[in-house]
Amino acid sequence: MEVVILPHAQDLARLAADAVVRLLRRQPQAVLGLATGSSPLGVYRELIRRHRAGEVTFARSRAFLLDEYVGLPADHPQRYRRVIADEFEDHVDFPVGAVQSPDGLADDIAAACAAYEGAISGAGGIDLQLLGIGTDGHIAFNEPGSSLSSRTRVKTLTRQTREDNARFFGSVDEVPRHVLTQGLGTIAAARHVVLLAAGEAKADAVRRMVEGPVSASCPASVLQFHPHATVLLDAAAAADLALAGYFRETFAAKPDWQEL
Ligand code: F6R
Repeated sequence: MEVVILPHAQDLARLAADAVVRLLRRQPQAVLGLATGSSPLGVYRELIRRHRAGEVTFARSRAFLLDEYVGLPADHPQRYRRVIADEFEDHVDFPVGAVQSPDGLADDIAAACAAYEGAISGAGGIDLQLLGIGTDGHIAFNEPGSSLSSRTRVKTLTRQTREDNARFFGSVDEVPRHVLTQGLGTIAAARHVVLLAAGEAKADAVRRMVEGPVSASCPASVLQFHPHATVLLDAAAAADLALAGYFRETFAAKPDWQEL
């Protein structure tokens, strides 16, 4: 796990965007994994800016979302398929149909989850997966207690996650209880994962992810097993890390030729 601590959230977004741009230049057909929520928004803004500047194209790439609420109507503004279109996809040049999400409106949820796993493997797997982390240590919507080898399936959100996400809805009661989410095993299969966390509300979850035991109680801790996991933190999110000084020194001494 490479932990990079930078002063401001916008610095994290720039570094993550650099990783995506470098990947797409090297491998234009790369498959991206997209997160929703607040954490990746700066990355999407930066990628849109670089696309408009002619620095990157998504014309041969594909993308898969991490998760989706169950039962939100197709036109609901908080449906993740809608959010990613509004925040990113509609501003760049993905081919029509190249961005996919789990089908939260499917009649047969189990079949929809299996089909989603099949679509990801059919695309050759995910090359670069963007992630945020929940205050309870979730990644995607794998809440505490999730199997460390789980695959795409339905999950029930914790009260804490529903309260955290109430800011996107009118009230906590409007936040759906159920979601479809890539599993921890699905995420672990991505070739590179880039997790962004900013703000003091994330500090405890970040500490448990990076320095705690690997445990289903902190689902993000499974990334300690990942051969290529990059964790991008602002100073507030890194505040509880015992190894913060070492991580800062390591990044300051990182050779120019070495990518994330
Ligand atoms: C969203 C997702 C979630 C969020 C997490 C953090 O697709 O998978 O795991 O990344 O809840 O949310 P924010 O970034 O809003 O703090």
